[in-house]
Amino acid sequence: METLELTETQTTQDFLPLNGTDHIEFYVGNAKQSAYYYQHAWGYKLVAYAGPETGVRDRASYVLQQNKVRLVLTTSILPDSEITRHQAKHGDGVKFLSILVDDATKSFEETVKRGAKPYMEPTRFEDENGWVIISAIHTYGDTVHKFVQRNNYSGAFLPGFKAVDNAMEVKSVGLKYVDHCVGNVELGAMNQWVKYYEDVMGFKLLITFDDEDISTEYSALMSKVVSNGNGYIKFPINEPAEGRKKSQIEEYLDFYHGAGVQHIAIETDNIIETVGELRRRGIEFLYVPETYYEDIPQRVGHIEENLDELKKLNILIDRDADGYLLQIFTKPVEDRPTLFYEIIQRRGAKSFGKGNFKALFESIEREQGIRGNL
Ligand code: FE2
Repeated sequence: METLELTETQTTQDFLPLNGTDHIEFYVGNAKQSAYYYQHAWGYKLVAYAGPETGVRDRASYVLQQNKVRLVLTTSILPDSEITRHQAKHGDGVKFLSILVDDATKSFEETVKRGAKPYMEPTRFEDENGWVIISAIHTYGDTVHKFVQRNNYSGAFLPGFKAVDNAMEVKSVGLKYVDHCVGNVELGAMNQWVKYYEDVMGFKLLITFDDEDISTEYSALMSKVVSNGNGYIKFPINEPAEGRKKSQIEEYLDFYHGAGVQHIAIETDNIIETVGELRRRGIEFLYVPETYYEDIPQRVGHIEENLDELKKLNILIDRDADGYLLQIFTKPVEDRPTLFYEIIQRRGAKSFGKGNFKALFESIEREQGIRGNL
């Protein structure tokens, strides 16, 4: 494993300053019902809507927000469209990983100049609440990065969307912001995508995990984490590695029919409360056996939380040079074994829970076996 410290010079010369995740947009089969799930189970508030009632003729989109996490669920209302085809091929999945920028025109020009494949030229949208500029470039699979410049806009989301004032009353589960978004890419493609983020977006390689770090008896994967200058955007990229049986990454690629977003990690500042509440609302998490907790005191040392409570909720713990972290992973949140969520609480640690990989992947393989995909 290698770690690269970002120096001041590198960050001040950033040609692509990024202010964090603006929103994550999914193409789904039934946005109305998905929106209910995210409100009721996950505690997101419905803040904006676009659809036939607001003059949009081909789709319906629901914007859900919890602190700084903003999800958009979009469905087609036509029998054949880009959205319908995306959904038929991939199932419900992430279409746009959208990034907040100060200058969407410059973001587009700088990245396209360095080899990004354009998806949308910088375009100005406006309504009575001001104006925005949005541009977009392709990344792995059918996934797209939008650059959103919204400093002259005061509406609920973006022009074309109407604020929702009769939203369902929801109770937040304490989700704060997106910590990282992970992509799965085809065998042999990981380095090419790492290079893409380095060349095109000026990201730096933070960490490498090889199959020695991440292998179980059956399957293995390789992973590299790239990050932008200020560290607000972190994209780990996985590819399958040869194992005795089918890698979890291969299972994803088979069912998503190509590369795509594997999981979204969301930060909470009280993982015990967040996960306890999510469990009460029916969210299913991966299971690790009790034996996982036996060597925690030796492996992790002192932690603030009560170990019995963590054990009861099946929350995992890992420590690195900077501190420790607590994390847990949901089962896939749609019928295909594709996208899932991670809930993470960082107590100083900047890493990704390497010490938990083995226990975690054995747990994923148990689920793969139940699905008949191992
Ligand atoms: Fe993660």
